[in-house]
Amino acid sequence: MTAAPMSGDLGERAASHVREARLWDRHMELARFGATAAGGVDRPALSAAEAAARGRLLEWAAARGMTAHTDTVGNLFLRLEGRDPGLPPLLTGSHLDSQPTGGRFDGVSGVLAGFEAVEALLDAGIRPRRAIEVVAWMNEEGNRFAPGMMGSEVFAGWRMADTVLAARDADGVSVADALAAMNAALPPLPVRPAGFPVAAYLEAHIEQGPVLERTGAVIGAVTGIQGKQTWRVTVTGEEGHAGTQPMAERRDALMAAAAAILALRAACAGAGPDVMLTVGRLVVEPNAPSVVPGRVTFTIDLRHPDTALMRALGSRIQDICADRAAPCAVEAVPLIDAASVAFDEGLRRRTLEIAGRLGHPAMELPSLAGHDARPLASVAPAAMIFVPCRAGISHNEAEWAEPAHLAAGTRVLAALLAELGEG
Ligand code: GLV
Ligand code: MN
Ligand code: MN
Repeated sequence: MTAAPMSGDLGERAASHVREARLWDRHMELARFGATAAGGVDRPALSAAEAAARGRLLEWAAARGMTAHTDTVGNLFLRLEGRDPGLPPLLTGSHLDSQPTGGRFDGVSGVLAGFEAVEALLDAGIRPRRAIEVVAWMNEEGNRFAPGMMGSEVFAGWRMADTVLAARDADGVSVADALAAMNAALPPLPVRPAGFPVAAYLEAHIEQGPVLERTGAVIGAVTGIQGKQTWRVTVTGEEGHAGTQPMAERRDALMAAAAAILALRAACAGAGPDVMLTVGRLVVEPNAPSVVPGRVTFTIDLRHPDTALMRALGSRIQDICADRAAPCAVEAVPLIDAASVAFDEGLRRRTLEIAGRLGHPAMELPSLAGHDARPLASVAPAAMIFVPCRAGISHNEAEWAEPAHLAAGTRVLAALLAELGEG
């Protein structure tokens, strides 16, 4: 992509056609698919709820003359054709899957911001030189199928499609079978190989942290994403009778796992306040009240902006756990090792400049959460636009974003797309 002209009028014209009520109504409508009693969303990747959300998006896209296609791993693309169809498109979007007690904004707001931005361009009578594609990535959250970012990582060439398609959920259903079931529930779409040249990738998202709200900024120009490792740790002991087996002779896998987890917490705390350690899933076997646990499996999610520091801590996980878990055996298996990433500086400056022109208070900040923009940044200039969410609460049914803030982020996105679309 050549440096686009500073076509301020074009950006402002596009931004002025963003309709806050339309954008909000679409959030509320998609939140019905997988709605929980407590006002959140439970929409696993490739579920019937995700199929329904995709179905609505396809209807809205068709109504605006956009074409749709998917790829071999179930990423969904909605295309506004450009004046020069041969140019690599601008890509914008996020994901529609959620955590089991997720909110109404994480992921879906990035897809809807992209879609609203395209509608704003159309309403403003702007047909960009480059096509714009709105994407919904397959399985960002890694909740039903682990690990996450499956669709975007295959798109970026980080993972093989075949490996991803073979992954299974807790019920033994493969990604391939779940994808076939979802596709069967939707109108047939052209299926392309995963990955194509992209001029730039822009992802709008709620911040999922408290920084914007605390500082009063409405737009966050994201500097990058902190590094992340995930691990699966298996602690193996021996089952025994809860009443008869002497305490000193037990090999209790749960007591051992508890000691190991506390030792991990101490090691991470010793490395500074920015180390994020989460043990979010723990499986106890046989999980019976009167049986000494014979096996425990738990996950570790470890994050830090300094990749070297994160990796140094990760390399100690096996030894720390084995030391504390004795006489039980420990096996720590690494699942993800994602270095921290820096986003495109030019796009970041441009985001701040557009926010200023539109009158939205803005600041730079890093993303502490992971996003599909991480793999995308390795194949195209990438940027993220954050908007505040109440009290920074996310991965929680109480997640909330103000309609005006969502609209502000979408205005900045629409202006960026309009201007970059001429480059
Ligand atoms: C994404 O959902 C993450 O866990 O960072
Ligand atoms: Mn997300
Ligand atoms: Mn999430």
